[in-house]
Amino acid sequence: MGITSPLRCPKCGWEPGSKIIFVCASCRSILEVNVEIGHLKRSDFDAMRRSRNHTIWRWLDFFPVENLSSIVSLGEGCTPLIHATRLGESIGVAQLYLKNDTVLPTGSLKDRSNSVGISKAKELGFTTATVMSTGNAAASVAAYSAAAGLKSVVMVPLGTAPSKIIQARAYGAMVVVVDGDFDYEVARLYKAAVKEFGWYDCLSSNPYRDEGKKSYAYEFVDQLDERIPDWVIHPTAGGTGIYAMWKGFQELLALGWIKRAPQLVASQSAAAAPLVAAFQNGWADIEPVVARDTVAESIQVGNPVSLGWRALAALRESNGTAVAVTDPEILAAQALIGRLAGIFAEPAAATSVAAAKKLRERGVIGADDVVICNLTGHGLKQPEAIQLSQEELQPIAPTLEALREHVRRVF
Ligand SMILES: Cc1ncc(COP(=O)(O)O)c(C=O)c1O
Ligand SMILES: [Zn+2]
Repeated sequence: MGITSPLRCPKCGWEPGSKIIFVCASCRSILEVNVEIGHLKRSDFDAMRRSRNHTIWRWLDFFPVENLSSIVSLGEGCTPLIHATRLGESIGVAQLYLKNDTVLPTGSLKDRSNSVGISKAKELGFTTATVMSTGNAAASVAAYSAAAGLKSVVMVPLGTAPSKIIQARAYGAMVVVVDGDFDYEVARLYKAAVKEFGWYDCLSSNPYRDEGKKSYAYEFVDQLDERIPDWVIHPTAGGTGIYAMWKGFQELLALGWIKRAPQLVASQSAAAAPLVAAFQNGWADIEPVVARDTVAESIQVGNPVSLGWRALAALRESNGTAVAVTDPEILAAQALIGRLAGIFAEPAAATSVAAAKKLRERGVIGADDVVICNLTGHGLKQPEAIQLSQEELQPIAPTLEALREHVRRVF
């Protein structure tokens, strides 16, 4: 069971003396929760690895949930790590692995976070959870709230496609459409609402929630049988995934269960790449940008709320990098993942493979390096990204002759 230290500001050390204040009163940084793991032994790791629990909760001791009965699980985690030989061959990386998070319960990586975050909400006695989101986080918060018996409220900007809202609505969320810009106006209203109504905040400003993605590190070490990958590439918006993965690897290093950690790479769309800019310019924190439209809709964030400075530190400490990829590169990667690996990933997720290809071409990644690309969301989240030609859609007469002609033209 995770034994949780008090919330604390990682920048100035301020402690709120409360379990439900998430932001430093002194310097406005997001607070951090640490789980006490010093007592864990190597044999505990072996036992966790043998556990018949095939969810992130096999790593229970690493998560800030103190009451077993609070755990809300829909079967998240322990997703396949697939050696993608055909895809690897096409981009010149023989040891290419795909972490298939498209199969998570609501179809995206957000379930790793929200299983932990909503479990903590239940433990702390909240009755309503909220998030502002244009898609994946909304669906995930809504699903875990439903399973926990909490109400959920999701804020989206005007213009959000109904297809993005439908999944959250199906899990019973109250969807609030706000006539305003996402990064600034919706964000301002969201903060005010959390304060006014006392709802449980499920953004990455929630330190409990952020612990969930540490599970990547534990799963990689387990699934590669304690071989450490050379690179892990993660599609990135706010930077939680990079920061949390690094924290997970640091925990395993501190326990002496691994000897080294991988180099981490953040992949972003060139249309919304504040982390890449900050990394390349050597800045300590992200400077907000105005995100342009991109096919990688789920990571189209110009002003991330959260942990940019920590993600930047993780990239640097790991001797990693940050890569921006263009929409044509993203769509080409999405097609390759589908056709050569049999996985339908959403465009945002495909940025990891687009970045792997780019880094291989530049010689940064070597031909024999072990590379993991996280596929963080299902392609059915955004099916309209796949373009069908008029020719493919053209109906044919129900005759073999018509089929022969169609095969000749299209196949
Ligand atoms: C599909 C997908 N991939 C990756 C991310 C990355 O988020 P983060 O940088 O917070 O780990 C998100 C969420 O914003 C997402 O929806
Ligand atoms: Zn502080």
